[in-house]
Amino acid sequence: MERMTLLAGTANPVLAAALARELGVELGGCEVRRFPDGEVDVRLTASVRRREVFVVQPTCPPVNDHLVELLAVADACRRSAAARVVAVVPYYGYARSDKRHGRREPITASLVAGLMEAAGIDHVLTVDLHTTQIEGFFRVPVDTLSAVPVLCEALRDRVPADAVVVAPDAGRVALATEYADLLDRPLVVLHKRRESGTETRVTHIVGEVRGRACVLVDDMISTGGTIVESVGALRDAGARPDFTVVATHGLLLRDAAARLAAAGVGTLVVTDTVPPAPSPPPGLHVVSVAPILADFIRRTAAETRDAG
Ligand code: R5P
Repeated sequence: MERMTLLAGTANPVLAAALARELGVELGGCEVRRFPDGEVDVRLTASVRRREVFVVQPTCPPVNDHLVELLAVADACRRSAAARVVAVVPYYGYARSDKRHGRREPITASLVAGLMEAAGIDHVLTVDLHTTQIEGFFRVPVDTLSAVPVLCEALRDRVPADAVVVAPDAGRVALATEYADLLDRPLVVLHKRRESGTETRVTHIVGEVRGRACVLVDDMISTGGTIVESVGALRDAGARPDFTVVATHGLLLRDAAARLAAAGVGTLVVTDTVPPAPSPPPGLHVVSVAPILADFIRRTAAETRDAG
C-alpha cells in the first residue's frame, strides 16, 4: 500500500472515509471547491508522482457536477505524473442510457466512458453496473464488484421462509436469480411496460405469489416508481402484504422514501454506494461496500507493486 494514494471528490465522503479506515490509510490531499460561476476548482495538496492513485467518486446526483469533479481530479493526477489513476465509481451515473430506445438519442453511458478515458483514467472499479455491456464502452479495464452477497447476508434473518424473490422487470432477471439462489427462495418475474418517461405498468406475473411474502430486488431505487408499481401488482395478485426491497444503489430521490413506506414496504436494504437519503424511510438498513472495495484495492495495489 506504500505506493498508493487514496483521494476523494465530494460525492460520498462517508464512503470515502469508511474505505480509508478499511485500508488503514489517510485520505490524500485533494481540495474541491466551486468558482463563483459554479465551475469546479480542484487542487491536489500532496504529490502523487509515480503513485497509484485511487479516486473515490460515485457519479450520483447531482450527476453532472460529480462527474466533472471526477474528470478534473483525474486530469490533475495525470498532469502531476501519477503512475496510474483508478476511478472508484461505486455508482455509475447515466448507466441507464446504455442503448438507444429510438432514433436521434445518445448513448450517454458510452459518452461518459470516453470522457473518463480522455481525462486519463486507467482503470475503473464499480459496483453492480446497471448492465454489464457498459464495461464494453471502455478500452481500459473495468472491474464490476457485486454487492449481492453482502446484501443477502444482511437479508438472511429478515426474509420469511415462504418468501419469493421478485424481479421487477425482464432486465433484472439475472440479478434476481442471483438473489434467489443465495437466499434459496423461488423466483418470480414481472413484465412491465413503459407508459411514459416516468410511468410503467406491470402486465404479467410469471410465478406464484398468492399468500407469499415478497422480496423485490433491483439494482437501483431512484424515484421509487418501479417498486411502488410492482408492489401494487403483487398485492392485486394476492401476495401477503409483507414486502422487503433490496437494491444496491438507494438514491431515494424526491419523495421516494415516503412513497415506499406508503406502499407497504416494511424493510428496505441498500448499500452506501451513494450517500444516505435526507429523510430515510423506517425499516432502512444500509450495508457498506467499503470492505469489498478495500479488498479489491489491496489486491490491485499488491499486483502493481509485484509487477513494478
Ligand atoms: C430500471 O431499469 C432500473 O433497474 C430501475 O428499476 C429503475 O431505474 C428504478 O427507478 P425508479 O425508482 O425511478 O423507478
